[in-house]
Amino acid sequence: MCILVHSGFFRCQKLGENNQEDGYSLTNASHLFLKNEPMSVTPFMNIMLDPMLTKPWYRLASWLQNDDVNAFYTQHGTTLWGCAGYDPRLNHLFNNGMASDSQLVGKVLVDDKHRKVFEGLSSLVDIGGGTGTLAKAIADAFPHLDCTVFDLPHVVAGLEGMKNLKFVGGDMFETVPPADALLLKWILHDWSDEECVKMLNRCKEAIKKNGNGGKVIIIDMVRTNEGDEESIETQLFFDMLLMVLVTGMERNEEEWAKLFFEAGFSGYKIFPILGVRSLIEVYP
Ligand SMILES: C[S@@+](CC[C@H](N)C(=O)[O-])C[C@H]1O[C@@H](n2cnc3c(N)ncnc32)[C@H](O)[C@@H]1O
Repeated sequence: MCILVHSGFFRCQKLGENNQEDGYSLTNASHLFLKNEPMSVTPFMNIMLDPMLTKPWYRLASWLQNDDVNAFYTQHGTTLWGCAGYDPRLNHLFNNGMASDSQLVGKVLVDDKHRKVFEGLSSLVDIGGGTGTLAKAIADAFPHLDCTVFDLPHVVAGLEGMKNLKFVGGDMFETVPPADALLLKWILHDWSDEECVKMLNRCKEAIKKNGNGGKVIIIDMVRTNEGDEESIETQLFFDMLLMVLVTGMERNEEEWAKLFFEAGFSGYKIFPILGVRSLIEVYP
């Protein structure tokens, strides 16, 4: 209990007539781990702490001496996405973890402060949108907006849409369905600069094919060395996590801008939305 109090998961209070007993209560942080809490992040922790994702950390030394794409590959002999394609347990655990984060982000995105980002749009594709939690929050809040969740076939298999939400399986490096807005939440940070430019080019083609103008909406971290110690530590640990599991990284503004201009976009705007995460609008 001492370490849980120290790390902010419980609050310790003196109880009893003479304040001789210790009592513990939940903090804002531990509320997020309650089973029945609608914004519970427990599924996200479950995947992050699953041995499939923790074992690669022990292979860093081997990975540094071989040519594998990352330590996940060194451990499992395939990529994270490849592995989720043939391991239904990992696929389920991973998709649920992402969905729990998307629930939190979805609530923030459709609130009064941020919803203007979707106003005036008639179609949106959530690229790598997982099992559709974020797209569903947007589709519910904007009934006239046609939303598509685009993800790998094993992720969207068997998922049923509703009136203004549909699921499409495919590979975002090949082609992306045309729309007014292309949403990329927690996608580009998974990939190297070269892969990001390729994907952004697919987005530019999709906007052009749509013929209505349009934009790319990115939800990701914009790394900065400013802020409190915890925020900087969070940014650095995420950066390490991406190095171990995928081929990406967390980027600062200069690194983001370089990707956008290299892919031929003309400008961008950054709006901080939730903790260390920002929404970036990118214009063709
Ligand atoms: C980090 S998850 C983010 C999921 C979701 N956007 C969210 O934030 O909850 C990355 C997603 O990209 C998808 N993905 C990976 N490679 C892909 C590809 N080549 N084409 C389409 N989707 C892909 C994965 O299946 C996964 O759902």
